[in-house]
Amino acid sequence: MQHKNSYQKVSANNLEVSYTDEGSRMAPSIVFIHGFPLNKSMWENQTKSLEETHRVITYDIRGHGNTNDGSDTYSIELFVEDLIAFMDALDIKKTTLCGLSMGGYIALNAIVKHPNRFSALILSDTNCTADSPETISNRMRSIESLEAGTVGKYADESLRKLFTPDSFIAHKTSVELVRDMIVATSKASLCKTLRALAERNETCSRLNEIKVPVLVMVGSDDPITPPEAARFMHSKISGSTLRILKHAGHLSNLEDPNEFNDALKKFLASIKLK
Ligand code: MLT
Repeated sequence: MQHKNSYQKVSANNLEVSYTDEGSRMAPSIVFIHGFPLNKSMWENQTKSLEETHRVITYDIRGHGNTNDGSDTYSIELFVEDLIAFMDALDIKKTTLCGLSMGGYIALNAIVKHPNRFSALILSDTNCTADSPETISNRMRSIESLEAGTVGKYADESLRKLFTPDSFIAHKTSVELVRDMIVATSKASLCKTLRALAERNETCSRLNEIKVPVLVMVGSDDPITPPEAARFMHSKISGSTLRILKHAGHLSNLEDPNEFNDALKKFLASIKLK
């Protein structure tokens, strides 16, 4: 789908990264990382909500949205290298980082590997564990059915896990936008990313190394990265804040945007006071 804000491109790590960069260059920056299999368009509401106070940056991970495929295989480590190269290309030395789900896996790996590049972290609907054997088998089955079937069928199956049943009525437009994002992603990129997710390492054992302010958010009905996962990360990250959003499943920024933005703004304001 087309992003309403005008998007730009920058070369980083041998990629042409598609991104948006809104708000004042002088304001504190926040970089948003999207979930799978979405793209930067998922952050439009948050961009609007923060652009008066922050420099708000959203970008497409390789093979998603308008960023090119770049390589034959993907990994979370490679996505972290892309993020750091992207920040370097935009001359961002240090930033607040917000990742939802896969974006959170990337954010957690980025902060433990490059602690000096991040001033605060928002972990939304994500998890520090690696995939269970059952989840890995499900991902391999998804790859097989994607190779044999259509992206449309895969999109319809994914939507049922990403949104609560209520959201199909209350947030019909968001459901349609997410479907558009999924069907705009190539089969090759979907399969490479599913493998990267299945092969990712855990970061739970590194959470005690995170020394910046952290907000952990989750939809109360998130079946993919449930509230227990958020509570666990909150318990291991010293001084972190936990917010459970009552009217959301996995895509909490789209299903409960008001509460999500409220939590985000309060957290960012609290950092400014420190
Ligand atoms: C996401 O939203 O990024 C995915 O659901 C992550 C996953 O499948 O583990």
